[in-house]
Amino acid sequence: MDRIRIRGGNALNGTIPISGAKNAALPLMIASLLTDDTLTLENVPHLADVEQLIRILGNHGVDYTVSGKRLALSAGSGRTIHFTARTIVDTTAPYELVSKMRASFWVIGPLLARMHKARVSLPGGCAIGTRPVDLFIDGLRALGATIDIDAGYIVAEAKGGLVGNRFTFPKVSVGATHVLMMAASLAKGQTVLENAAREPEVVDLAKCLNAMGARITGAGTPTITIEGVTALSGARHRVLPDRIETGTYAMAVAMTGGDVVLEGTRSDLLQTALTALGDAGVEITDTEDGMRVVRNGGGIRPVDVVTDPFPGFPTDLQAQFMALMTRSDGVSHITETIFENRFMHVQELARLGAKITLSGQMARVEGVPRLVGAPVMATDLRASVSLVIAGLVADGETTVNRVYHLDRGFERLEEKLGRCGAEIERISS
Ligand code: EPZ
Repeated sequence: MDRIRIRGGNALNGTIPISGAKNAALPLMIASLLTDDTLTLENVPHLADVEQLIRILGNHGVDYTVSGKRLALSAGSGRTIHFTARTIVDTTAPYELVSKMRASFWVIGPLLARMHKARVSLPGGCAIGTRPVDLFIDGLRALGATIDIDAGYIVAEAKGGLVGNRFTFPKVSVGATHVLMMAASLAKGQTVLENAAREPEVVDLAKCLNAMGARITGAGTPTITIEGVTALSGARHRVLPDRIETGTYAMAVAMTGGDVVLEGTRSDLLQTALTALGDAGVEITDTEDGMRVVRNGGGIRPVDVVTDPFPGFPTDLQAQFMALMTRSDGVSHITETIFENRFMHVQELARLGAKITLSGQMARVEGVPRLVGAPVMATDLRASVSLVIAGLVADGETTVNRVYHLDRGFERLEEKLGRCGAEIERISS
């Protein structure tokens, strides 16, 4: 298993190109199941999760071709992939595939909408919390589907097709919003989704579905209205920049000090997180094609954050912000409200010398003057990258094990940081 070795102490200076968003690319790829025409996605990041979903979609009959070569490391160098689901050959998503990636459960929406049936394995637990699927089931039932659970599978059927309805999410869910938006696009009549997720990835999916002929309004607000159509066509769509990758590198620069331009991204995708970084003493300015992050001199001020659905502080940046706060000049409090078990990085940060105490959903982080390198490992993607951020300032050597977590969501991480002066390398084994 590969490891990442970091020698801490170097400031980051230079340019980091931001890739297409993993969490937009995944639902966009799944949307290709809605049409027998070709959906072309540009700026698709090269990530293990994307490759895994390609395999899963292939099982349902989606063919794909990749155009262009893998270009140099620059913004917008993501791949262009053409997805064609001419014929759906299988409406079952088996346990072996769904258990590897939760987002693959989302195929239930398009399969039900287009084929009027789907048999999809329950995704099961996950390192960051229980992550149930009740909102998907209730929402699809509201659109007229019958749903049974049989031997670990959700068996869904909509004889004669789905029918539009009004559905209010009792809790905000990104995945359930994606799925109901896709399903309702091919339902008969109008669907109104209330208390929908407002994440930029939801807006990106709505844009793509509209380019395919769907009639969706209100994405990005809590109320999304979808007028069902009888068929969708192919389209060409560019995946939006990855706001979590953007925020992660901004936090890395905040941690090490330095001056870095994050290229090909947009500050409006993560305003709350940038406000928190500003409060911590980091200067962030928009550039023509991205943003510039600077921390020269001055310490890191402690800042309290509470994770919340968009436009709140993203749970996917909570671990990285905690890493930053381990070096602040005081005490900060970080509260996680989305996932009940997303503090797996705490004990690993402690191995580097961080002082963190947990009480329920809140972490109290007391800044320390130095961290000291050590071998660490993490059990999820964002937790792993928080250890990289800590390693960038820790004295001596930090080895991050189980790099496959990082490869799920960060494209060419060591190359991007290395180009800005970090001493970081991948050790293959
Ligand atoms: C998406 O997961 C992201 N994944 C996650 O990113 C992200 O952390 C999360 O949204 C929150 O922003 C992708 O986009 C692929 P949710 P999702 O449904 O859709 C509860 C990463 O690191 N819930 O919005 O699975 C759930 O347990 C990943 O890139 C129910 O109770 O998250 C959680 O507490 C990790 N019942 C809350 O809602 C349901 O039926 C929000 O989850 C569904 C969800």
